[in-house]
Amino acid sequence: MNVRLAAITAKLTQHLHDVVQEFQVTEDELIKAIDFLYQIGQKNQYLLLSDVLGVSVLVDNITHSSQHHESATANSVEGPLYRNEAPLMHTPANICPEYSGGDILFMSGRILSFEDGRPLAHAVLDVWQTNEHGIYENEDPDQPDFNLRGRILSDENGKFEFRTIVPAPYEIGKTGPVGDLMKAIGRHSWRPAHIHFKVSADGQRTFTTQLFIPNDPWIDSDSIGAVKESLILSIEKCDSPDEMRKRGLDRPFYKSSYDFILHPHRM
Ligand SMILES: [Fe+2]
Repeated sequence: MNVRLAAITAKLTQHLHDVVQEFQVTEDELIKAIDFLYQIGQKNQYLLLSDVLGVSVLVDNITHSSQHHESATANSVEGPLYRNEAPLMHTPANICPEYSGGDILFMSGRILSFEDGRPLAHAVLDVWQTNEHGIYENEDPDQPDFNLRGRILSDENGKFEFRTIVPAPYEIGKTGPVGDLMKAIGRHSWRPAHIHFKVSADGQRTFTTQLFIPNDPWIDSDSIGAVKESLILSIEKCDSPDEMRKRGLDRPFYKSSYDFILHPHRM
């Protein structure tokens, strides 16, 4: 017998009974609930349901609780849009070589060891994000393959830099049973604009997080509840002719810096 599964099932059953009792759930509502779960399966939206119920973020926090430390980088969920084997690039990299619009952003920073603060050379910063319309390349036939994705290697000093664009907020599960539920209960489905990161280095625990664009209209009400204060970027606008010339640009751009701190395997 699986003791843990038995205990979880008993507790879940008890809570379900409480809800049914409290709201005097009708047969008609029960059939609708069962059909809803059937539709979730048909549309492959169980992960999305877990996201909007806040369960994904909660489990992620529990899983990485031993990593929680004020001076360590906060973790966040990977989400469903990650792709393996994004192009490998040296720093400084450009993850949108076929620029077609949006505010240009230069992201830089260091990858450091939590243990002794030393910079981690040849760490891999796996990055993925939406375009300026809030769309990932694998959901958009108009974007080049692996657009706005890359695995960027840190240099000898643990530093990285890449050119990208400022991503945009997006709605999750606009169609399908999760979206229908959100509409029916008066909740929006927006996620504030963010950049996903998966950071790995020899001897360090691979680490996944998201960094958020400040002043986003949805920053205080992320539909999956993934925003943490320490994950909100500071972004600076650069519009002096000198700075633009140095970057070879004819328009203002933005820059931001963030250091990632990795935990060794044994911690
Ligand atoms: Fe995302």
